[in-house]
Amino acid sequence: MKILHWIWILIGLGACALPGLLHPRPRVHAAESRVTWSRQIAPIVYRHCAACHHPGGAGPFSLLRYQDARRRAPQMLDVTQSRFMPPWLPAPGYGDFADSRRLSDEDVDLIKRWVESGAPEGNPAEAPAPPHYDATWQMGKPDLILSVERPFTLRASGTDVFRNFVLPYPLAQTHFIRAMEVLPSTPQIVHHANVLIDRTASFRHQHRTNWRDGVPGMELEVDSGNTFAPDSHFLFWKPDTPVLVEAPGMPWRLDPGNDLILNMHLKPSGKPEIISAKIGLYFAEEPATKHPMLLQLDADSELDIPPGDRNFVVQDELKLPVDVEVLGVYPHAHYLGRVLEGWAMLPNGEKKWLIRIPNWDIDRQSVYRYRAPVLLPRGTVLHMRYVYDNSDDNIHNPHDPPVRVRAGNQSTDEMAHLWLQVLPVHVPRDGPDPRLLLEQAWMQHRLERRPGDYIALYNLASASAALGRYAEAATLYRRLLSAHPNDARAMNSLGAALERAGDNQGAEQAFTQAIALSPDTCDAGYNLAALEVKSSRFADAEHQFRDLLLHCAADAGIRSGLGVALQGEGNAAAAREEFQRALDLDPENFTALYHLGELAIESGQPEQAVDLLQAAAKDRPDDLDTREHLAMAFAQSGRAADALSQLRDAIRLSPADASLHALLSQVLAGSGELQQAIEEQNQALHLQPNDPDGWNNLGVLEARTGKTAAARSDFEHALRLAPDHAQARANLAHLPPA
Ligand code: HEC
Repeated sequence: MKILHWIWILIGLGACALPGLLHPRPRVHAAESRVTWSRQIAPIVYRHCAACHHPGGAGPFSLLRYQDARRRAPQMLDVTQSRFMPPWLPAPGYGDFADSRRLSDEDVDLIKRWVESGAPEGNPAEAPAPPHYDATWQMGKPDLILSVERPFTLRASGTDVFRNFVLPYPLAQTHFIRAMEVLPSTPQIVHHANVLIDRTASFRHQHRTNWRDGVPGMELEVDSGNTFAPDSHFLFWKPDTPVLVEAPGMPWRLDPGNDLILNMHLKPSGKPEIISAKIGLYFAEEPATKHPMLLQLDADSELDIPPGDRNFVVQDELKLPVDVEVLGVYPHAHYLGRVLEGWAMLPNGEKKWLIRIPNWDIDRQSVYRYRAPVLLPRGTVLHMRYVYDNSDDNIHNPHDPPVRVRAGNQSTDEMAHLWLQVLPVHVPRDGPDPRLLLEQAWMQHRLERRPGDYIALYNLASASAALGRYAEAATLYRRLLSAHPNDARAMNSLGAALERAGDNQGAEQAFTQAIALSPDTCDAGYNLAALEVKSSRFADAEHQFRDLLLHCAADAGIRSGLGVALQGEGNAAAAREEFQRALDLDPENFTALYHLGELAIESGQPEQAVDLLQAAAKDRPDDLDTREHLAMAFAQSGRAADALSQLRDAIRLSPADASLHALLSQVLAGSGELQQAIEEQNQALHLQPNDPDGWNNLGVLEARTGKTAAARSDFEHALRLAPDHAQARANLAHLPPA
């Protein structure tokens, strides 16, 4: 032993010609070169392997203790040399990922030297403490825990199972979620899981009888309802990254009535296993300030892979209508996928790789987040190119012998998806929601590829409507209806688009047809009644609202709508009752609060009006009518200062609103600020010069400040605009003669 050691030192110093250094240097060199578990290997294993290789983890054995690792040392050498471990699919140099598990060349080399020198332990005192894993929440107790209602029994053997569990969001308030952890009862059999937000509980409604037991299926579609709430986050769970923490400013939203769907990929273990799961949610203090969106490139419609073909290629591309930062990427294919590539061609001709997976393995799929956001200017074209191998050589091929494979929902079918999480940047202040522009570009592209794509056509029409292009939206809904004439929802949406485009008659026709197509749903009936209110057909509206109550009695919107119709018919008492019922159902119902406030002003109860209108304004701070009424209520209850500040806020929101200036003028006059009142009234008339009342009011103010000549000309101006304006005539008569 001693001799060997000495020889080694001698060889090591062969090139050194300075005898004086012979003694100090060898010792230092030896200590550095000896690779031990305690000093170099444990830190690598704890960082790169232990998340899966701990007792109860996703890996088949633990590597936490030296004895465990020594026993596996030759295997560790093999799997790190071949880069089979740690599992990491993206090729280096094709996207810089924050959570890269790939070992550095130095670490791979250290493991090699350690194994080849007999896997020594070294000094145990130098080893770091092993990481601690247990089956509890890693971030402490969550703010809300949702549980799978009925555990599911996974059979002992056979193919993988995909199971969807519905977890209704039980709270009555909206919350923003900054982190989520999934805690399966038996993590070893959960390969991965996706969490979907079902904004309308549509999946639960599709599976009314069996949702509590979990529903089989690999991919699912959920219905986001009538509001634009695009998927924005990858809620993808894997055993080694159980907590998903969102970036600052980017929590995701959960509203009352939403469901979470836990889509789990389960692997039979050899014995029957009972699986359930909990989802822990951590609330953010503040709502989201940044709104990312998930975009998908896909080539499913091209998938028709002949047996034996080992080089079947599909592609897709999408041109970006806005500047975005790409935050993450999730490539997805099934067992035949071999090479998966995504890249971006910038308008200046530069090619930026987003990801390249040279050797796809569905069992190792993952979401990849970029270390730094990848900026892509508008006009960039996103590309995906996937290569499939449907030959015997593909060890993952589920068919032996190979068969023709097309796109589909079974794991033995194929898929070609590339999901990107993008955050629009450089957004113009007054422009539309950039995600709508992305949605529009994406759906337009989908339609170009598949003109009959129902979802694309529907989403494109909705995006056009949301962008204020109502005529375009109506055309798209008509196109959709020509293929699906019995689609009540599209018919209702057509009505809404026509109404916004100013075609009330067409809207009414569409709403009526939608009601006939689906008499039990209340949307179209509500829209029709609201249209009748708008055109002052209050009796028709009342009738329509009462009909709706037969199906949707517990709907605050219908109750308050009925109230508005009754108010329009002059029946204030009955209206008040309906508004009150609406508030019993939903204390924040805006329509009820606003109209009750208005009625309180009319009946001389300004204090009550203040309370109601303040509540309404809290719900819609930008609604000018509410602020205007609130100001009136303040003024009537003698709170001139509150009225003034209310009106000044409103004018800040809408400086060109003549009636706000006119009202401000009146309140100022009421508190004796005549000069300012005249200025505001002049402002109002500047904005709306043909208002006889306005000229009359200005005349009164001028007269009160002794400017008789000016007052005279104001009253005469009012009379020129409206020759039978009685007040102006009387005021003119009262002026002292010129
Ligand atoms: C993301 C989880 C994960 C990480 C991280 C991970 N492993 Fe594994 N490891 C597994 C799984 C799962 C298996 C079982 C084989 C499979 O399914 O890929 C495995 C298998 C192995 C095997 C047995 C291979 C065989 O041929 O059966 C070795 C050895 C191994 N891992 C070593 C390591 C080492 C060393 C590291 C760190 C450098 C590491 N693993 C990191 C999950 C992981």
